[in-house]
Amino acid sequence: MLDKVEEYIEEVKKATANTANELEEYRQKFIGRKNVITDLFSEFKNVPNDMKKEFGLKLNELKTIAQDKFNELIDVAGDQGGAEGDSQIDLTLPPVPNELGSLHPITITQNRIIEIFERLGFSVQDGPEIEDDWHNFTALNFPENHPAREMQDTFFIERNPDQLLRTHTSNVQIRMMEHGKPPFRSIMPGRVYRNEAISARAHCFFHQVEGLYVDRNVSFKDLKQTLYHFSKELFGKDTQIRFRPSYFPFTEPSAEIDISCFICKGKGCKVCKHTGWVEIAGSGMVDPNVLANCGIDPEEYTGFAFGMGIERIAMLKYAIDDLRLFSENDVRFLRQFKGVI
Ligand code: PHE
Repeated sequence: MLDKVEEYIEEVKKATANTANELEEYRQKFIGRKNVITDLFSEFKNVPNDMKKEFGLKLNELKTIAQDKFNELIDVAGDQGGAEGDSQIDLTLPPVPNELGSLHPITITQNRIIEIFERLGFSVQDGPEIEDDWHNFTALNFPENHPAREMQDTFFIERNPDQLLRTHTSNVQIRMMEHGKPPFRSIMPGRVYRNEAISARAHCFFHQVEGLYVDRNVSFKDLKQTLYHFSKELFGKDTQIRFRPSYFPFTEPSAEIDISCFICKGKGCKVCKHTGWVEIAGSGMVDPNVLANCGIDPEEYTGFAFGMGIERIAMLKYAIDDLRLFSENDVRFLRQFKGVI
């Protein structure tokens, strides 16, 4: 009988299983509920006493190597064989949860900006990204061949130079005013394109939110108060704002808007380049020519407009120092933005 055990040990050592069937055969013979090893154990009582020890040891050895071998074979042949609860897969384990996606930081920032303006009664307007010269430039008081057009490096469509990728969402202001009647109180979030070399600070596409408010008696103080409220909502109630004179063809007067640096509270740090202020938007009173171009009487109506880069706001809020991260789709970057700002 000892010989039988030795024989099985040899057989186990040599065993291979390349298919699920072969694995199952092995399993039934050496591991399953009624296997050859248990049969041998039940013979134990018939073994002469002086042989019991040796036989027992050998039999246990067989049992161990049979199990070890089985584990090895599973790795090779896969675990398709064991249907009888000897399977190595524990079906009672909870599944690995699917990871939930998260909103893109640009979407989170855009949603927050929309939320603040919606509470002030601004609606959200959308418009085309492929635009004609009139809506992107001419109606906005950019004179033909005027160097002001070069302020924004434009991608023109080769087959039709009258078509271009919009350089700002101001085109939506024109479309709105052309097709409607004042009052207008809207913001226009969207993607814009500029032919710029890609770097940590500039990209060939980015996102903007522009705003337009046209009605009777809209004045510069409405612009100031609206942007002041917005800045405090987004960056904290202690935020101060200042207006710096600037130039845009479509607004007169024009101003650049700075907020007091919310990181150092105006003391000076890396983010504000030690000035205590960071620029967040361009703005101004809508130029009378722009209103007239859209069929609105500038004697009767006035308006203000502003525009800001969403990437810029997100970079300030989240202390991100490279613009390229927003469009590289690296999930290690993206999955950090779970909440709202
Ligand atoms: N359209 C301007 C830009 O893209 C931003 C702006 C909008 C400035 C409205 C003033 C008023 O730079």
